[in-house]
Amino acid sequence: MAMIIDGKAISSQIRNEIAEEVAAFTAEHGFAPSLTVIIVGDDPASQVYVRNKEKACTQVGIKSEIIRLPAETEEAELLKIIDGLNKDKSINGILVQLPLPKQINEKNIIAAIDPQKDVDAFSYENTGRIMAGDFDFLPCTPAGVMELLHRSGISVCGKDCVVIGRSNIVGKPMAMLLMHENGTVTVCHTKTKDLKSHTLRADILVSSVGKANFITADMVKDGVVIIDVGINHLHDGKLTGDVDFEGCFEKASAITPVPGGVGPMTVTMLLKNTLTAAKKQN
Ligand code: GUN
Repeated sequence: MAMIIDGKAISSQIRNEIAEEVAAFTAEHGFAPSLTVIIVGDDPASQVYVRNKEKACTQVGIKSEIIRLPAETEEAELLKIIDGLNKDKSINGILVQLPLPKQINEKNIIAAIDPQKDVDAFSYENTGRIMAGDFDFLPCTPAGVMELLHRSGISVCGKDCVVIGRSNIVGKPMAMLLMHENGTVTVCHTKTKDLKSHTLRADILVSSVGKANFITADMVKDGVVIIDVGINHLHDGKLTGDVDFEGCFEKASAITPVPGGVGPMTVTMLLKNTLTAAKKQN
């Protein structure tokens, strides 16, 4: 039977720590760390994510502003707004919510954000820094996973770590962070032959696939640590991860639930990055 890694409780503990540091920063400088979030269009999931980010900022004392732009906004206009925010010394963090409408090239937008204000850590400079192990910011979801492991007393050193999914936002940086902590990392993806032969070897399994019940009990070994990054909406409106929680719970030594596992940590790491950005800039 597994220990359930309570992302909500761990997240709340970290947010309390961040709130204390934000209060100290604000007392010292006379202004609070600040984050500007840009959202283009009205994708319902993005609207929810952005509202959650705003609420979390308020909760810890970070000043936040949301710039809402219509779906037909041109790339040049967005670039102009980002340029203004880059130059504005009162803005510490800039986040452009993805995905963007198709007339806007995401790569151009990410490249336009000042790397020192890039609290998503998506820029080439910040991804390169992560590769080299010399970074100020980490992408929020993989950073949240590492915090969950650290605060649950789970060491990565020497472990067989299997990451499923190779996205720039989760899979690739996740593999890098596990490697930095001396894990032996395998990255699996849609073209992987015999996925089960890999997952069965995993001491730590991180799944970022986006398919409900993708990881079943027969695919994992006894004592595995399972981190479920999946967010899947079922027909009945319920939220579930990639993992058959009930089945895997019996075999795992530790497992994250969905909801209440990795999800709350992602926003918490954004707060941490915004505080780091404010400190670095002042
Ligand atoms: N859309 C889904 N996840 C993210 C994220 O972590 N950052 C941004 N900017 N957009 C997202």
